[in-house]
Amino acid sequence: MSEANRTFSLCCLPAPTRCVLAVFLIVISCGYFSGLVQLHFQHASPGNLLPDSADVVRVYHGEPKSEPKSKLQQLLEADESLPFNGTGTMRPAFTTKSERRWKENLAKLSPEEQKKLLAEREGERQALLDWLRQGAPKEAYDKDELKLSKPLVITEDYIVGDKDAEGRATQVRITSIITDRCVRCHQESGADKDAEKYPLDEWQHLEKYLKVEEGPGPMELAKLAQTTHVHLIGFTMMYGLTGLIFSLTQWPTWIRVVLAPWPMFWQAVDIALWWLARLDPLAAQAILVTGALVAGGFGLQVLGSLLDLSGLSFPRR
Ligand code: HEC
Repeated sequence: MSEANRTFSLCCLPAPTRCVLAVFLIVISCGYFSGLVQLHFQHASPGNLLPDSADVVRVYHGEPKSEPKSKLQQLLEADESLPFNGTGTMRPAFTTKSERRWKENLAKLSPEEQKKLLAEREGERQALLDWLRQGAPKEAYDKDELKLSKPLVITEDYIVGDKDAEGRATQVRITSIITDRCVRCHQESGADKDAEKYPLDEWQHLEKYLKVEEGPGPMELAKLAQTTHVHLIGFTMMYGLTGLIFSLTQWPTWIRVVLAPWPMFWQAVDIALWWLARLDPLAAQAILVTGALVAGGFGLQVLGSLLDLSGLSFPRR
């Protein structure tokens, strides 16, 4: 009696069962792939297919060595090319995200007009930053009037009082800027469904983003605990099943012993690193390595199992 007959193996399963397993493996690979797509949109800097080491450090550890800033200041200073969300940047709110047809409308202007518009929008951003650096005084917000610490070229609508000799504003309507550029999306039934959840239309809503903190902190504990729970259970189910299927193939025992539990093991290490990354940016960078180990193992498992199920790798008895 050969070894394959003594031990239970995929090849002894009836054809319909092998079909179910093959389809399962294909569908779960699609699920894995869509997870990567989500990762791309949520955390990768534009130009990167997947988050790079700077991205993971930013998300899991927080920005290294930066002066204490409020969340709002961070989001307005952050590079424009970062993802447009609460861990990336809100800077495009003054430009590309300021209206639905920004590109089309901009293209209609002459080069000089474009330059002027961009300069004025940059002035709005600088005015908001000026307010934040002054400690975000509530009085200026209530009165919709801020005395700038240095004059700015800015959109006409937001200028209060007279301009200086060079046509720059010295006082601006700070609350109006926030309303036009931010509240547009950040309010109930606003222009963006995701931003609706974080209203910025009143002082009490705005206030929590004005607190000055030591550098952008790491991912919030509540959020981290939630993704841990979801991923740990989800991934264990998924890699548990793919591992079990692979373990029943006819590949040499040593390969199966190593590869069958591989993705599940490295996924657990990966998740542990999400927590360690709060303390050490090096752990954040190691997330990329464990992520790659999981992906590689998972890919080989699926491929190896499909080959086995199809009867291509080993002759069917
Ligand atoms: C085009 C719509 C839009 C505009 C305009 C906009 N935002 Fe956002 N904002 C978003 C989206 C989308 C998110 C991510 C929401 C999520 O995490 O689901 C976000 C997230 C945020 C967050 C993080 C909320 C949190 O607790 O996670 C802050 C703070 C924020 N924006 C501030 C601003 C400020 C300040 C402005 C104005 C300069 C602004 N936003 C303009 C769409 C917008």
